[in-house]
Amino acid sequence: MAQTHKIAVIPGDGTGPEVVREGVKVLQAAAARFGFKLDLIEFDYGGDRYLATGEVLPENASKELSAFDAIYLGAIGHPDVKPGILEKGILLKLRFELDQYINLRPVRLYPGVETVLKDKGPEQIDYVVVRENTGGIYTGTGGISMKGTPNEIAVQSMVYSRFQVERCLRYAFEYARAHGKKSRGKGDENTLGLVGKTNVLTHVFDLWERAFHEIGAESYPDVRREYYHVDATCMWMVKSPEWFDVLVTSNMFGDIITDLGAITQGGMGIAAGGNINPEGVSMFEPIGGSAPKYTGQNVINPLAAICAGGMMLESLGESEAAAAIDTAVTEVTATKLKSLAVGKMGFSTTEVGDMVAEGLS
Ligand code: IPM
Ligand code: MN
Repeated sequence: MAQTHKIAVIPGDGTGPEVVREGVKVLQAAAARFGFKLDLIEFDYGGDRYLATGEVLPENASKELSAFDAIYLGAIGHPDVKPGILEKGILLKLRFELDQYINLRPVRLYPGVETVLKDKGPEQIDYVVVRENTGGIYTGTGGISMKGTPNEIAVQSMVYSRFQVERCLRYAFEYARAHGKKSRGKGDENTLGLVGKTNVLTHVFDLWERAFHEIGAESYPDVRREYYHVDATCMWMVKSPEWFDVLVTSNMFGDIITDLGAITQGGMGIAAGGNINPEGVSMFEPIGGSAPKYTGQNVINPLAAICAGGMMLESLGESEAAAAIDTAVTEVTATKLKSLAVGKMGFSTTEVGDMVAEGLS
C-alpha cells in the first residue's frame, strides 16, 4: 500500500497562500510520480485570523500539530498587526513548543540564477547553515526596568545550556558527515565550521567552542573542524563563499548570516529552510516574509516554497522525490526564468508552479 504522509499546511499571511498553493501542486505531482500519498489539512493561523478573533494561536495548536508528520508553512506577518505579535506568537512559538531546535538553511545558487556576487556561480555558492533554533537571545531572557526614565535599563541575554549546544552540534556533525562536500563528491573532506564570536562573547562561545572540539574529536574525527568569527564569516560569504561547506551557529547569528546567504543565492524568492526537530515534527518554510504588497497579484516567486516542500519530502524519507523536485527547479531556473525577482520572472506565480510540476510528470 502506498505510504501516506500527514501534513499540516499553514498558508499564513500575504503571499503565503499563493506560494503554498504552488508548493502543494508540486508536492502532489511528486506524490503521483513516486507513489506516495499526502493527507493535507489546512490551518488558518495568521494575521487575518488574529484580527478576526483576537487569538494569535489556539492553546492546543502545538499539540494538534504534533500529531502530523510535518508542517508546511507559507509566511507569517500582516501589515495591520504590530510587528512581533504574529512572529513571536506563531512562528517562534511553534518552533519553541515543537522543540524544532535546528534551522537548516541551504545557501545554494541554482544554475541560471543571477547573483550579486561578482564572478561567482553555482560551483562557488553551495553550502549549508545549521542554525540553532530554540535558544540564545531568542528566548527573551531579560527585561526592562525603570521604563520611561533616563535610567531605563533593557537586558536581553544570550543564554545557552550545554545540552542545547551539544544537541545542535551533534546534528551539525551528522549533517556534515552525510552531506558535506566529500559526501557529495565535491571535495576531499567534509568540513563543519563553527561560527561564533569567541573574542568578545567569551562565555557563550567558549561553551560552544569547547563542546565543538570535544564532540568533534570524540565522535566525528572524520569531519574537519574550522572556527570562524561571525563578522569575518560575513566578509567571506561575499568574497569566498566556496570556502564553506557546513556551518553551525547560534540562533541570532544564524538569523543574520542566512539573510546574507539568501541574497547571494538570488534572494528570498529561492531561499528555503526547515525548522527541524529530529525526534519530532518539523516545519518547512520559504525564509522570506509575507510580502503583503504583492498579495493576490500572482507575481511572487514560489520557488522558495517549492524548495521547502522538497526539503520536507527529504525529511519524510522521500529522497527520490526530493531530488526530482530539485532537478525540476534547476531545469526551470536554468532554462525558463528570466530572473527570480518579483515582476521580472517572465511568468506568473502559477506558471512557475506549473513548470516545476510538469518537470515531475
Ligand atoms: C527567520 C525570521 C524570523 C527569525 C522572524 C520572523 C521571527 O527572520 O525565520 O529568519 O528571526 O527567526
Ligand atoms: Mn530571519
